[in-house]
Amino acid sequence: MPDSLLPLEVNGLSFSIGQKSLLSKLELNIDSPGISVILGPNGAGKSLLVRLIHGLLKPGQGRISWNGKKLNLAIRKQQAMVFQKPVLLRRSVEANINFVLNNLSECHRSNCEDILQQAGLIQQRRQPARLLSGGEQQRLALARALATSPQVLFLDEPTASIDPTSTMRIENLLSQVRDDGVKLILVTHDIGQARRLASDVLFMHGGRILEHTEAQSFFNQPASKEAQAFIQGDLII
Ligand SMILES: Nc1ncnc2c1ncn2[C@@H]1O[C@H](COP(=O)(O)OP(=O)(O)O)[C@@H](O)[C@H]1O
Ligand SMILES: [Mg+2]
Repeated sequence: MPDSLLPLEVNGLSFSIGQKSLLSKLELNIDSPGISVILGPNGAGKSLLVRLIHGLLKPGQGRISWNGKKLNLAIRKQQAMVFQKPVLLRRSVEANINFVLNNLSECHRSNCEDILQQAGLIQQRRQPARLLSGGEQQRLALARALATSPQVLFLDEPTASIDPTSTMRIENLLSQVRDDGVKLILVTHDIGQARRLASDVLFMHGGRILEHTEAQSFFNQPASKEAQAFIQGDLII
């Protein structure tokens, strides 16, 4: 078993495009297992933050470290990410999984069948991936991410474009994955999903982290007025 990647420590993280500052001097420490939910309205900076901490974007300023080591390729290889819109190969369901498995070293190989079974896609294994429903495609994208046995899995609004039944299946899968010891960092603007899944909540607004608290205290007593409004379902701008 490799060393844990936690804690994640972020210091003075800023990100701009041109003259426009999009994230400004973020401080963050994630050191507990479970599901850390990044919650906030559209445009808050949630996607930018997860892309930065997973190394898909380079910060303008600041430091990102995992278990004391500066973010590097070896660390990124122990992580995976699922996006709102699944990106799949134009091949069969099982070929999408095997493609990933074939690129791994033996010791990391899990079994394609087990993975498809867990994702509830074993019946569809020989179908072209593009013929799956939206919910099934997202389960396949999740299964493919899990095939790499990540220690940390990022999910950016994974259920934003799928129906409630598929959302429930994905949420159940995420709970299982959490129970298997994978650290999940889940971006959502769905307050119900955050209540169902979060161990801790990071609330973002306007390119800042307004609070980071254990889930129960966040929902019982949010510290910022923006989070209070968000929890009540008010529009916040
Ligand atoms: N490539 C880009 N160029 C210019 N502005 C961007 C770019 N990417 C994101 N932004 C802006 O940064 C802000 C945060 O974006 P994002 O992280 O995608 O928000 P969220 O995921 O919380 O909805 C938004 O105002 C968005 O318009
Ligand atoms: Mg986003």
